[in-house]
Amino acid sequence: MKEKMFVKTTVEFFRNLHVDFVKKLLVFENLDSTNSTAKNLARAGAVEGTVVVAHTQSYGRGRLDRIWESPKGGVYLSIILRPQVQTERASLLTFVAALVVAKTIRSYGAPTTIKWPNDVRVNNKKIAGILLESEIVGNTIHYVVVGLGINLHIDIKQLSPEIQSQSTTVSSEVGHPVDYYEFLRTLFQQFEYFYMLFKKGNYKRLIDEWKKHSDTLGKVIRIQTPTEILKGTACDIDELGFLLVRTESGEQKKILSGDCLYFDELRKV
Ligand code: BTN
Repeated sequence: MKEKMFVKTTVEFFRNLHVDFVKKLLVFENLDSTNSTAKNLARAGAVEGTVVVAHTQSYGRGRLDRIWESPKGGVYLSIILRPQVQTERASLLTFVAALVVAKTIRSYGAPTTIKWPNDVRVNNKKIAGILLESEIVGNTIHYVVVGLGINLHIDIKQLSPEIQSQSTTVSSEVGHPVDYYEFLRTLFQQFEYFYMLFKKGNYKRLIDEWKKHSDTLGKVIRIQTPTEILKGTACDIDELGFLLVRTESGEQKKILSGDCLYFDELRKV
């Protein structure tokens, strides 16, 4: 009976969704990782707009090989994309995803910000994370999987003690429960809008919008990149999504990915 209700809710949700880019919606009670499932589907030829959703994950994956703890009450989903753009533009999808999540949460009234590259936070606490995984061969993007993990109304106490104090949820920030499927609908609508901007090549608009939501620019940061650790001031984001950092020696560095910490927050730890 429970299973029947679950299937009915999903089918009805999809039927009334009316968001063009969502071509197929696969909803599971539990998966190891929606990103892993989506990658397998993408390799097997799944179309752009296939979305994999799970109510819990037993092995959710985060950036930099971290675990993404995924108890009930969170949104865990992965979207398969096959954008036909120059390969160096693919990393801008990380900005698309962060904006979509930030805008969706803001629409419920929480003062959401983005910490470069794609941590979504409220009052300096993490509320959502994004993991992009892609297969790019030569000049062709075979697929990009955009994985979103959002603390909708999880019980923070179910997370490991080390991350509890740095995490928050949408319902606790807005002060009332937020309907899961209503939230998904808003998220997909936002995704449709910003992915369209991306596909049309409106990169400047995307970056400008991202900057409006980010709290990184102007901050003194410490970044660990795959090759170095550097300290400096985050100055700007360029058209390809590189973060421009001015180091203490006055040199300007361009960073595409890394782990970013704010100095003013480091001192409080
Ligand atoms: C981060 O480290 O901040 C990124 C977390 C991304 C988690 C999401 S949950 C849905 C999707 N499936 C995964 O295994 N990871 C992403």
